[in-house]
Amino acid sequence: MIDRINELFMQLEQFRATTPETLEAFRNKMLSKKGILAELFHEFKTIDPSQRREVGRLLNELKEKTSEAIARAKDHLESQLETSKGLDRIPDLSMPVDAFPLGARHPISIIRNRINGIFEKIGFTISEGPEMEDDWHNFSALNFPEEHPARDMQDTFFICKNPDLALRTHTSSVQVRVMESQKPPIRTISPGRVFRNEAISARAHCFFHQVEGLYIDKVVSFADMKQTLLHFAREMFGESTRIRLRPSFFPFTEPSAEMDVSCSICGQKGCNVCKYTGWIEIMGCGMVDPNVLENCGIDSNVYSGYAFGMGIERITMLTYQIKDLRLFFENDIRFLRQFQSAI
Ligand code: DAH
Repeated sequence: MIDRINELFMQLEQFRATTPETLEAFRNKMLSKKGILAELFHEFKTIDPSQRREVGRLLNELKEKTSEAIARAKDHLESQLETSKGLDRIPDLSMPVDAFPLGARHPISIIRNRINGIFEKIGFTISEGPEMEDDWHNFSALNFPEEHPARDMQDTFFICKNPDLALRTHTSSVQVRVMESQKPPIRTISPGRVFRNEAISARAHCFFHQVEGLYIDKVVSFADMKQTLLHFAREMFGESTRIRLRPSFFPFTEPSAEMDVSCSICGQKGCNVCKYTGWIEIMGCGMVDPNVLENCGIDSNVYSGYAFGMGIERITMLTYQIKDLRLFFENDIRFLRQFQSAI
């Protein structure tokens, strides 16, 4: 009898159920009322008492192992069934899959990339500088005199531990860095984030983005600047866009101007975006002040140049007719999703 039981242990080890039917047949063969184990327990009653203990232990173990093997085989079959059900749901493996959701670019990035692209096509490079700037690059080199009220034009966030450091208030600081480190001719634009200590509203924020432009060469004129900016305005807002330059003041340019573009929303008929004037101001510009050239080690008797600076938020608001600046920085997915298909 012991041999028989050992033989059954071996069979148990080799047992693999491939279908629910073979599993059921095995269970029947082993555990049913007329199955092998029932038969063996019956036989057990007749064996020699000296073998009882040993055989009894083996029989119980066999019964337990059989139940375990059946439970394991059942689990295995069920998990196989689940996988094949999943496969059934794919009718044709060669069919094209759904497009992976790619997310959306931020509208500020879309417009920044467009601005960069327009200037890159006409030979401008892209330069970047640090967001934390020293007084020299943000103010002094740009001809803001010490203690001069011109510094109040831009409410600055200073770094408490070091009064010489501040968050840059404009990307004009990058002009200085470029002129200090490169020799003319220089033709570059500098996009980046800037910071000002202003109350947050629909029209102002404590940080925003600018693109600065700089062109330095031997005979650069105001007319060159006007032509380049007209080209930019037409690429950005449409073929029929007109520009207007109004005299202004900036410490780092002389003469200085502010540039308006014709309102493309109402075609200059008057609307609430252009405040019924037909014109929208989009940037400051001018001829680089000779003091600035000299501060950066460029001979102002040999070289001249123009510079300009614009706010990316403003241009984005005009392009998409967005009325509240705060929307750009709230990360509301419903707002951002609307730009899904834009490059
Ligand atoms: N830096 C100025 C600002 O933040 C913008 C600006 C005006 C930049 C005139 C220029 C410029 O380069 O020539 O308001």
